[in-house]
Amino acid sequence: MSQATATRVIAPARNLLGSLRLPGDKSISHRYALLGGLANGTTQLENFSTGADPASSLGCVAALGARVERDGAKVTIQGCGGQFHPASAPLDCGNSGSTMRMLAGLLASQRGAFTLIGDSSLTRRPMERIRKPLEAMGAHITLTQGHAPLTIEGAALNAIDYTTPVPSAQVKTAVLFAGLNADGTTSVTESVRTRDHGEIALEAFGVKVTRNHDTVSISGGQSLQGVDTVIPGDMSSAAFFLCAAALFPDSGLLLDNLGLNPTRATLLDVLATLGAKTSVLNLEQRSGELAGTVQLVAPKDGLGGATISGALAAQLIDELPVLAAIAPYTRHGIRIRDAKELRVKESDRIALVAENLRQMGAEVTEVEDGLDVPGGQALHGAEIDSGGDHRIAMAFSVAALRADGESTIHGAESADISFPEFFSLLDQVAVR
Ligand code: S3P
Repeated sequence: MSQATATRVIAPARNLLGSLRLPGDKSISHRYALLGGLANGTTQLENFSTGADPASSLGCVAALGARVERDGAKVTIQGCGGQFHPASAPLDCGNSGSTMRMLAGLLASQRGAFTLIGDSSLTRRPMERIRKPLEAMGAHITLTQGHAPLTIEGAALNAIDYTTPVPSAQVKTAVLFAGLNADGTTSVTESVRTRDHGEIALEAFGVKVTRNHDTVSISGGQSLQGVDTVIPGDMSSAAFFLCAAALFPDSGLLLDNLGLNPTRATLLDVLATLGAKTSVLNLEQRSGELAGTVQLVAPKDGLGGATISGALAAQLIDELPVLAAIAPYTRHGIRIRDAKELRVKESDRIALVAENLRQMGAEVTEVEDGLDVPGGQALHGAEIDSGGDHRIAMAFSVAALRADGESTIHGAESADISFPEFFSLLDQVAVR
């Protein structure tokens, strides 16, 4: 069991009913925080993510000279006008891979040397993936055996054409961010279209970005202008409630102001494959991002089954733990492949999902790049090890709702990384 500091007991539920408005999307919040920190003028954000991760991005740009004011989910940033200030101490990225990788992209063209550090989980995560393209552009990066602490010395950058070796929106965004200040046009090509919040955020800050099939390009020498916008609710947080509601035939769940960017809404398609229908109302676009109200109707005869592989696995990467956690309750099970990246997230999510499913009495097969979880299984309450990973803590809180008996989630405080309100909202909508 990992070092756990807080536990949560989750009792089984009879149903899930209610309507929720979720905190702002974590991925979008990071990008607005980082770009707002470097921009000219003021950025005003409403419904900023309440998670600790985007707060790390705000903390870093504040340490680099941006003026950040925060009143709950309202954030105002006075940007540095294109030039960060020297940092007097290492920049603390906390648990946030997004902060470390995407900030490195912005720092690659800045004057001076900057050191980026993180917690023990972040220090285990691969950083070579950003060193390669950013060094090819001219920056100098020192890692410790491929990991943080990371020191980056900015330089006059040259544009590159880069093909991402593994699908990664963080790497794509880091290269595009570096391309902002490079000499020439920087292009990133990806075999699977990953979330495009970086491209959309750049456009919101007044930057021209061009897309051509699998390639996105940015010309250097463009400046950022602060934005004023409302951030849509986080689909990856919503996933826990959507999957929970899908387990109960009489559930009624409405999620308001939910982010519906097509590169993030693949979960709705998988839920449809499993037999749960969603309808979308009040669709609107804000600063290039779609948001709407989502209503879920669970199937009367239980969820079917699904195989998630290829592009689907990359696009659903953050939702796979909760899909695997509800898989035993489906009729035909869920098979996951091409998801090796799960092993280098905040924890080894393939291993931890398998371990915790077995703790609950499930049969599961773990393979290098995925899992086979047969359907038609009844689970019992168990001691769950979150491994300090927010998505594992929340995924197994959902699995616990349909188990026989109570479950105890160890390391439950990790939910604060992306979704501090998770447990109280779960109590609000779970009918016991
Ligand atoms: C993210 C991209 C994904 C995702 C992470 C957030 C982003 O990571 O898992 O939670 O905001 O760009 P990778 O880029 O490593 O795939």
